[in-house]
Amino acid sequence: MTSPAYLTDFLPRRGTLPARSWARSDAPELSLNGEWAFRYAERADLPDDFASADFDTAGWGTIPVPAHWQLNGHGAPAYTNRRYPFPVDPPHIPDENPTGDYRRTFAVPADWAVERMLLRFDGIDSVGRVWLNGMKLGVTSGSRLASEFDITDVVRRGEENVLAVRVHQWSSATYLEDQDMWWLSGIFRDVTLLGRPAGAIGDHWVHADYDHRSGEGILRVETDVPARVTLPALGVDIAAGEELRIPGVRPWSAEDPWLYDGELASDGERIRLRVGFRTVSIAESEFRVNGVRTLMRGVNRHDIDTDTGRVVSEERMRHDILLMKQHNINAVRTSHYPPQARFLELCDELGLWVIDECDLETHGFYPIDWFHELAGNPAKDPRWREALVDRMQRLVERDKNSPSVVMWSLGNECGTGENLGAMAQWARDRDPSRPLHYERDWSTEYVDVYSRMYTTQAELEVIGRGEEEPWPDADLDRERRAKPFVLCEYAHSMGNGPGGLAEYQEVFEKHPRLAGGFVWELYDHGLRTQTEDGREFFGYGGDFGEELHDANFVADGLAFSDGTPAPGLLELKAVYAPVVLHVSADSLTVTNRYDHGDTAHLAFTVRVELDGVELSSERIQIAPVGPRRSVSVPLAVADLPEGAVITVSAALAADAAWAPAGHELAWGQFEQPRASAPYAQGAPVVRTDGELVVGPARLDARSGRLVGLGDLPVSGFGPDVWRAVIDNDRPFSWAPKEQRWRQIGLDHAHVRTDDVAVSEADGEIVVTGHLGFPGSDLAYRVEQRWTASADAATLRIVAEPIGAWDIELPRFGLRLALPGELEHVEWDGYGPGEAYSDSRSAVRLGRWSASVDELQTPYAFPQENGNRAGVRRVLLTGGGAALEVTGHPAVDATVRPWTTEALDAAAHPTDLVRDGLTWLNLDAGQNGLGSASCGPAALPSARLLPGRFDYAVTFRLPGRD
Ligand code: GAL
Repeated sequence: MTSPAYLTDFLPRRGTLPARSWARSDAPELSLNGEWAFRYAERADLPDDFASADFDTAGWGTIPVPAHWQLNGHGAPAYTNRRYPFPVDPPHIPDENPTGDYRRTFAVPADWAVERMLLRFDGIDSVGRVWLNGMKLGVTSGSRLASEFDITDVVRRGEENVLAVRVHQWSSATYLEDQDMWWLSGIFRDVTLLGRPAGAIGDHWVHADYDHRSGEGILRVETDVPARVTLPALGVDIAAGEELRIPGVRPWSAEDPWLYDGELASDGERIRLRVGFRTVSIAESEFRVNGVRTLMRGVNRHDIDTDTGRVVSEERMRHDILLMKQHNINAVRTSHYPPQARFLELCDELGLWVIDECDLETHGFYPIDWFHELAGNPAKDPRWREALVDRMQRLVERDKNSPSVVMWSLGNECGTGENLGAMAQWARDRDPSRPLHYERDWSTEYVDVYSRMYTTQAELEVIGRGEEEPWPDADLDRERRAKPFVLCEYAHSMGNGPGGLAEYQEVFEKHPRLAGGFVWELYDHGLRTQTEDGREFFGYGGDFGEELHDANFVADGLAFSDGTPAPGLLELKAVYAPVVLHVSADSLTVTNRYDHGDTAHLAFTVRVELDGVELSSERIQIAPVGPRRSVSVPLAVADLPEGAVITVSAALAADAAWAPAGHELAWGQFEQPRASAPYAQGAPVVRTDGELVVGPARLDARSGRLVGLGDLPVSGFGPDVWRAVIDNDRPFSWAPKEQRWRQIGLDHAHVRTDDVAVSEADGEIVVTGHLGFPGSDLAYRVEQRWTASADAATLRIVAEPIGAWDIELPRFGLRLALPGELEHVEWDGYGPGEAYSDSRSAVRLGRWSASVDELQTPYAFPQENGNRAGVRRVLLTGGGAALEVTGHPAVDATVRPWTTEALDAAAHPTDLVRDGLTWLNLDAGQNGLGSASCGPAALPSARLLPGRFDYAVTFRLPGRD
C-alpha cells in the first residue's frame, strides 16, 4: 500500500466545516496568496515531517499560490477528453502520483478582534492535506469547491504560524472529476484566513422573489444569528427571518440586472447584500423568469487562461463576461464545475442567466459501460453516494445567493444512477426555488428540465413541438412532456465552424418549450508554449509529451486561447442578436427578441453605400418595441441606385456596463439589384511561341493552362476540389469525410488536357480536359472557355461529374498562384470575416480590404480558413502590380501565402511558412461546415454536391485601359 489511506477513501474530505454561502463582509480577512515554499515529488508516500514548525525548507523552491505546478516548471500538463489517464479501478489510483508540498508562514494581524478564525481554500486540485503548526487539520476534496477549516484552537496570535499543505494530483475523487480538460494540479484558487468576530453570521440566504402579477418583491433573509436587513433604495429595514412584500420593485433579469445594494448586519459582522428580485418557474412546459418565457442564448464556459490554466484572474473573468455580453450571449453554463464565486457576482452585476454546474463528471466510465454495476460508475455505486451529495451541497450552499443562478446542474456525463437521484433530492429539498438540470437523465426522473446535447436542428424541432419519441415509462413520459427543454451543448466549435447556427436559432425562437441552448464552448483551451526556436503557439494534447492524449479536441472554442474572437463567435453574435432587422427598399421591420425588455436602449442608423462610398447616413427614431413584438416603419431612401446597399444598424444609445454607446447589437441589409458585369470579349486570339494570347491572358498552347496575365506570371493554375480538412471532416467526427476524400484521391488531382480549340474569328479558346484522381474512376469533365477584351479576359468553366459520386466535394473551383508581392486584397462582397455556406450571418455586403496575412484565421490546428463569400470583385495589389478579378455574378475567394497542401499538413500555425507566392482560390462553392467534430454534419442545403458547375470570372489588369 503506497498511497496514504485518505487517497482511496470514497470521500477523502475530512475535517472541513459545513458549506455556507459566499459572502463579502467587513469581518477581517487576510489573503494567504503569494509565493509559498514548494517541493515536488513523483509519488504520494512521503514522510509528513515537512509539516512540523521546525522543518527546514532549505533546498525547496517556491511556487505562486494560486497556480498549477505543471505550468510552473513541475511535471507537465496532460489532456484527455474522457479517458482516465490511469487504470480504471476505483477507488484506486496509481503509485505514481505527483505530489506538491506547500509551506508558508503567516501572522495574525494584531488588531484582529475576532472570536474564531477559519482557513478557506477556494480550490485545490485534486486533494490537499492541511496542517497548521504541525497539527493535522484535515483533507480538502472537490477540486472546484471551497473547503473551510476552523483553526481557532490551533492558530497562534503574536507568533508566526506555519501552514503546510500536501497536494496530490490523483485521489479517489479524480474518478469524479473527469471533465474534458487539462489535468492540472495544485492550489489553484485563493487561500484566505478569515477572522470571525463574536456574533458573526455563520450563513445567510437571501430569498428575493418577484411577483410579476403585483410587481412586488418578496424579501426574506435567513441567518443563523439575529441580524437586520437594510436596502436603502427601497426603504427596507427588517429583521432577518422576517418576510416583507415590497411594492414596485425593479426585477432582476439578465437583460436588466438590477441589484439593490444593502446590508445584513449582526452584532459581529456586516455582510454586503446585492439583491436581485426574480422568480424562476416552470409552467406549461416553459422555463419562465418573472412569469415570462425566457430563452437562453448561451455558451458553455470553462475556467481557462492560456498562461495560467484554471487560475483565472478577476480581469479575465470580467473579460469573459464582457466578451459574452458583447456577442449577444445571455446565458452561461459553468461547464463542468462551479467557477470562482467572483464570477457569479459579476454575472449578477452584468447580467447573464447561469446554469451553475456541480463539480462532477465520470465520463471515463463510458467506454467501459457506465450502466454496468461492476464497473462501479459513481452515479450508481452506493459507495459513492455520500461524495456525490457532498458535492451538490457545497455547490448550492456556496452559490445560493446569486440571482444570476437560475438552475442547478448535477454535473456532466456520469451516465445515470440513484446517486444522482440523491443529489437531486437533497437540492430540491434545500432549494425549491431553482429547477434542476442534468443532461444524461433522459427520462428526467431526477430533474426538472429535459436536457440533451448535440441534437440536430430537426430533432430540436420535434422536441420543440413536444412530439419526441415517447419514453418507455408512460408516467415519466407524461412528466417529461410537461418540462422545458435545454440543449445544454450544441454547435461544437472546434476549428473552422460551427455551421448551422442560424437554423438552430430559428427553431429555438419558434417553440416556447425550448428554454435555449449553450454552444460548446467559449474558448479553445490551448496553453501558450513555444517551438524550439522560440516561436509562440497554443499547445494542445500531445504537445507536452503525454502518454495518452486527445490532441486538439481541447481546442473547440468560439474564441481562441488568448481570448480573441474566432469567426464562430462573430457568427454566434449575429445569430443571437436580440433584435432582428429586416430591411427592404422602402421599409424596416424591427423584431424584438428580448423576453423582458423593450428596445428603448437602442439607437437605429440607416446608411446607404455604393461600392464602398457612403451616400447617406442618418439616425432614425423608432418608438420602443415591446418584448417579443415587431413593428414595421417606412424607410425613406430616395433614388436608390443599382447596387446600392442599405444597412440598418441597432446600437447601444448610451453606455452600458458591458459596452460603450455605439456598440452594435444587430444589423440588416438590403441591396438594390444590379446586373452582373458582362463577359470580356472582342479581342483576337494571338499565337506566339508556345502561347495563346487572348487579351491579357496567356495560355500554354499545348496544355491550355493559364501561365500569365499581362506581365504577371501565373503558376499552379487549374481546377481544384481540395480543401485543408477541417476538424468537422476528420475521422473522429460524426460525419467523417476525410478518409473517403483521400481514398478517392481528391487531395491529388490529375488534370489532363484533351483538346485546346482556338476559334480565332470568335476570339475564343476552349480547353477541354479531365480532372481525375489517382486510382479512382470518379472525375470531372471540365471545359474552360476564354474570351477577352483588350484589358480583361473572362474564363467560363463548365464542369460535369463523371462516375457514381457518393460524397460531397470539399470545394469546386479554380486555383492559381501569383507573385507574392500581391499581398494587399480589396474586395466587394461579404466581409469583413470569413464565411461559408452555413455560416454567413456575420458577414455583410460592402467593400473590404485586408492584407493577405490578415485574411488567415489561425485555428490552433491549421485547417481550411479565410473564405470570403459572395465576392463580386477582388483586387490584389502590391509591388507595383495589380490584378482585378470579377465574378459573374460572384465567387467565393480564398487568398493565402502558402498552398492548401501546406495548410493541410501543418500541425500548428508555426509550421506554416510563406512560399513566396500568393495563392488564390476562386470557387463556385465549398462544402458547409456543420459541427460534426462532435455533433451533426452540415445541413443538406449547405453541402456541396458533386453536380454540374458553371460559372465565370473575369481577370483584368487595372491601369491598362
Ligand atoms: C461533451 C462534453 C463536453 C465536451 C464536449 C466535446 O460530451 O460534455 O465536456 O467534451 O462533449 O468537446
